[in-house]
Amino acid sequence: MGAARPGPAALEIAPGALWQREALDRAAQEALVADIRAILAEAPLFTPTMPRTAKPFSVRMSNCGPLGWVSDASGYRYQPFHPETRRPWPPLPRALEALWTRFAPGAPPPEACLINYYAPDARMSLHQDRDEADFTAPVLSVSLGDTALFRIGSDSRRGATRSVRLGSGDVVVLGGESRLAFHGIDRILPGTSTLLAEGGRFNLTLRRVTA
Ligand code: SIN
Ligand code: FE2
Repeated sequence: MGAARPGPAALEIAPGALWQREALDRAAQEALVADIRAILAEAPLFTPTMPRTAKPFSVRMSNCGPLGWVSDASGYRYQPFHPETRRPWPPLPRALEALWTRFAPGAPPPEACLINYYAPDARMSLHQDRDEADFTAPVLSVSLGDTALFRIGSDSRRGATRSVRLGSGDVVVLGGESRLAFHGIDRILPGTSTLLAEGGRFNLTLRRVTA
């Protein structure tokens, strides 16, 4: 249930974590970027802050779908509206719903898509995605733009980790034993993609939030 079947080019980078290289061709990537830009026109990127320290994240974020993930002084949570505009998040684009059907067959529909934008010097420290009420559905991640050095370990912070370079159009499915695996982005490799005129990288993560 909810586990992705590896396609012909899928590599298992940790138990249940499938790396599907070039799952999206260039035309599909361009179409998805156009969808994301339309979403960001409605729900602009904002800079989240860490709950206790108030330190700003280096990535900027937005969301689409019924729920969106936010972080501020009140903590990490999902909420149905943008923290600054207070407006509902724009709907999930059809292309993302189709990707979910392709890579998370049988899982209940996604409720949130977190949009992370990495400027060339942004990173994301090792963390688990665990603010959802149910961990049976996988988390599906789509990379667009510059290559990123992605690190993945186990469900223990101190476990061994492995790094892979996620390129534009790559999809990673964090399912099964890796649903709660620690993961993060050590750095972006600037200038490695021509997809985004401004450079940098978008990462989209689709999640099922409620049980
Ligand atoms: C995330 O864990 O939310 C983002 C991972 C990535 O940028 O690939
Ligand atoms: Fe994550």
